[in-house]
Amino acid sequence: MNKLIDLTREQGQDYGTGLVKFNHLLKETGLFDDDKLAELIDKTPREFYMITHMNVEGKKMIWRNGDFNGLSGKEVIEAIKHGQLWLCLRGIETFSPEHHEVMEQAFGEVANVTPHIKTDRSQTHILISSPNASVLYHTDIPIIHHWHVRGKKRFYLWDEKDKTVLPDETLEAVILRETEEEIHYEKDWDKFASVIDLEPGISCTWPQNGPHKVDNLDGLNVSVVAEYFTPQAKRKYGVYYANGFMRRYLGLKPSSTSTEGLAAYAKCALALLLKKIKFAQAKEREMMLSFLLDPKNIGGIINLKQSEHKPITQL
Ligand SMILES: [Fe+2]
Repeated sequence: MNKLIDLTREQGQDYGTGLVKFNHLLKETGLFDDDKLAELIDKTPREFYMITHMNVEGKKMIWRNGDFNGLSGKEVIEAIKHGQLWLCLRGIETFSPEHHEVMEQAFGEVANVTPHIKTDRSQTHILISSPNASVLYHTDIPIIHHWHVRGKKRFYLWDEKDKTVLPDETLEAVILRETEEEIHYEKDWDKFASVIDLEPGISCTWPQNGPHKVDNLDGLNVSVVAEYFTPQAKRKYGVYYANGFMRRYLGLKPSSTSTEGLAAYAKCALALLLKKIKFAQAKEREMMLSFLLDPKNIGGIINLKQSEHKPITQL
């Protein structure tokens, strides 16, 4: 297959630590056309997708989780084109060898020009969202590499070191999975954000935990998103995990978030132990099913009664 990315070693030197943006040719593979996406949806097991609906209630935007309700891949694509929906097909390596193969090539090309950094990539997801969908202000736990393939979206990114937009306690709660990744946001903070318009063929990655929000601008939006850690990113995770534990259960007020030195390594060891004994698991939030896609009104949804809500199992 022809080369998929346009990134030099020099342009990639901040890969894993900073904002890196470059061009790619994933769209040319044809794997992200409507027909191929519909086929992919048809073979996605229930445990590997999340479909979310967004609506405004008062001043707040509410995100809820749903189910395809037996709709075909083609109908799901139509529903997303006409509704306010956001679909994540999780871990495509598990059920789509052809998408996996092309992403392995793309990431292999990235690795060739970023020898300075060792990355540990876990899952790769495909995101398909409505022309007017928005993703709320949130932070992700791993580092994210976003490959935009179709549609246009505006991406707002904040400095993860700014404790006003991302206080330590907030990041700890996300890492301990006490809260969804959506976090407190004030409109006033928009003036501090970097704004990046994502057109088809643009790929970008940004610093770990950098808070962000996204507004789709035009067309069905399709992206591939991969999560990865570097050794330093793993230590940051461990430090925040341990700090969160110490603040909540030992009554301490940890102020250091350094990922270097003995204290950082001790915190990582503590985090590893706590994760092993699953101490935080009881407090982890549960994803609840609260709507079904409407087969009679493509793009619409059927709201379930509170008593019909049930947990969604994800692998
Ligand atoms: Fe995100």
